[in-house]
Amino acid sequence: MSQRKILITCALPYANGNIHIGHLVEYLQADFWARFQNMRGHECTYICADDTHGTPIMVKARELGITPEEYIAQSFQEHTQDFADFQVHFSHYGSTNSPENKALCEYFYKKMVEGNHTRSQAIQQLFCEHDKMFLPDRFVKGTCPKCAAREQYGDSCDVCGATYTPAELKDVHCSLCGTAPILKDSESIFFKLNDFKDYLEKWIPAHCSSEISKKMLEWFNEDLHDLDISRDEPYFGFAIPGTNNKKFFYVWVDAPMGYMSTTEQWAKTQGKTLIDIWQDPSREIYHFIGKDIARFHTIFWPSFLKAAELRAPNHVFVHGHLMVNGEKMSKSKGTFIAARTYLKHLNPEYLRYYYATKLNSSVDDIDLNLEDFVARVNSDLIGKITNLGSRGGQMLKKKMDGLMSTPDPEGMNLIIQAQQTGKLIASHFEARDFGKAIHEIRGIADDANRYFDEKAPWKNLEQDPQATKQVLTTTLNIFRMLAIYLKPILPNYTLKVSKLLNEADYQWSDIETVLMNCPINDYEHLATRIETDKVNAMVEESRKINEDLQLAKKAASTADNQTQASNKNKTAAATGNAKSGAATPTASSDKPAEIDFSDFEKVELRIGQVIEAEEIKEADKLLKLKVDIGGGQVRQIIAGIKAAYKAEDLLGRKLLVCVNLKPRKMKFGISEGMVLAAGNGGSDLFVLAADEGAQVGQRVK
Ligand code: MSP
Ligand code: ZN
Repeated sequence: MSQRKILITCALPYANGNIHIGHLVEYLQADFWARFQNMRGHECTYICADDTHGTPIMVKARELGITPEEYIAQSFQEHTQDFADFQVHFSHYGSTNSPENKALCEYFYKKMVEGNHTRSQAIQQLFCEHDKMFLPDRFVKGTCPKCAAREQYGDSCDVCGATYTPAELKDVHCSLCGTAPILKDSESIFFKLNDFKDYLEKWIPAHCSSEISKKMLEWFNEDLHDLDISRDEPYFGFAIPGTNNKKFFYVWVDAPMGYMSTTEQWAKTQGKTLIDIWQDPSREIYHFIGKDIARFHTIFWPSFLKAAELRAPNHVFVHGHLMVNGEKMSKSKGTFIAARTYLKHLNPEYLRYYYATKLNSSVDDIDLNLEDFVARVNSDLIGKITNLGSRGGQMLKKKMDGLMSTPDPEGMNLIIQAQQTGKLIASHFEARDFGKAIHEIRGIADDANRYFDEKAPWKNLEQDPQATKQVLTTTLNIFRMLAIYLKPILPNYTLKVSKLLNEADYQWSDIETVLMNCPINDYEHLATRIETDKVNAMVEESRKINEDLQLAKKAASTADNQTQASNKNKTAAATGNAKSGAATPTASSDKPAEIDFSDFEKVELRIGQVIEAEEIKEADKLLKLKVDIGGGQVRQIIAGIKAAYKAEDLLGRKLLVCVNLKPRKMKFGISEGMVLAAGNGGSDLFVLAADEGAQVGQRVK
């Protein structure tokens, strides 16, 4: 077969989060595939980068008190270290915040404009006056218009699953500061997606699986919605040319361009240009992505490329999501496991192996069942595969002279069979059916173990050392072949095997050789069994990390509210309009965070003295009070404080009273005011009194 040139990419992970075991489903499978292709003698380049722009990253950096640039530099370090430790080998790992990406983004935009594929239109968007920014859907919270669940995001309700626009939400507020946003007009730039409808209708079925294609084409019964490619300042991203640095490219515009700009950086290291690589028709280009971002890769991205007159990928490979123990990864259950947490407890090759057993080319979700994980690794990788090497290697080296001989005829047959299975294994790798490849590999190991057990070489060591050696030679040859087949999955493991056998790092074609009369090295430990304790400790640590995070968040939000409240008091005091200590919003307050002084001024508060108090027998909560509010006025107030105060205890007390509430006709008489109290209600209520010296009838302001 002639040498293929292949370029593959994985989705660019967001810079505002850790790499977790869900991500690894993608980065590992692409790594398996790239390593397989390279082992076969092809040139497979594996490109990835951090996706660094957008509101969440800007906000996160703000929270941490650092610049977005500092923040993404930190993530870059962490991400690349996580990948390296999981043995994910990229040809180049870049960042969307690069000069190459900026230039490319501007180039695409120029082509879009020249092709008349953009238009502008004023749209209304929610704007937080406190945080001075437009609020994307995920930064707006409110009460679901369908099921009334509180604190739901601006685009969909987690409780009932309804989707809506932020405008439809009730009690809308900014998720950062809690204040109500305003609607603000802004001129947006749209990409006319519909110009590419006909093109996409043909392109999609030819470049992704039928499952995905069917799903994507469901949008095509109507006109496609144009895509708003602009975002208003402040935004961490690239400014749109001609907007005076006021508008920025939406993160999903420059993110896929990161595939190309990172390729460009790699190309330079090869003495080539981006065009040499990307536009080379003999080079295959594939994107590996998760199903959640299929629309961006099969509808938007090919249209951008078409608009820029650049070539589109050969295929978009879409995988499903990771489940753990049959459920979505859960932070509270500790199954939302960061790559780093995993690495603290377990060998990365175990996860590589287990994912390989589970992966196929479909878009179905894959399940990491933690019990099964332990069982598969221990019984297959250790019990079946590694055992062949350790038993064969140790016996030959420790009990004999460490020199292989030749396989016996039965052994030779096994070896030939294992060589022939290589074609099938390769075809499964090629088709990204990693689970099927592992199945075949395990089958070879089963046959070899059966052979070894039947021959029982440990019994014949003394009587027939020659026959024993032949069995060990066969066993080590099969073990070697297993290691070669497993190399895309377990590169470090395989490297150790090649060292044991005095060979160079394997290529696929090494399967054709049979080792005879060769010396072997000391057997070095390849892998040990997983202990369930370690898995439990990893889950427990993940749970704890999340718990601490929640606590820290809570503490931060309380502190935040206090600062906000005290800021407000300072402002009020400075303008001389209110005393410090006026009602302050709490974390759960549904009140606006700011009101005008004129609003406050409408409320008339006075010191009132309770001159009569009686229990209303028929009501559990109510007391009937007569309150002297000064100037000869006495008000009847029906107060819901019976569970907290006995009538006689209130007699004579001077309390804070709101005197200009509209009188309310209640079942037990008219109530002409309100006694102020703090607390949640019931017995948890505390009336408010003034310090010594306050006079009945004095205004409270
Ligand atoms: N930044 C975007 C991609 C831009 S590509 C131009 C993004 N980032 S991500 O960090 O959220 O996800 C990166 C990839 O990991 C996506 O393909 C996503 O589907 C995949 N996964 C993230 N969580 C996953 C699981 N729980 N399971 C499987 N894959 C998952 O999307
Ligand atoms: Zn805000």
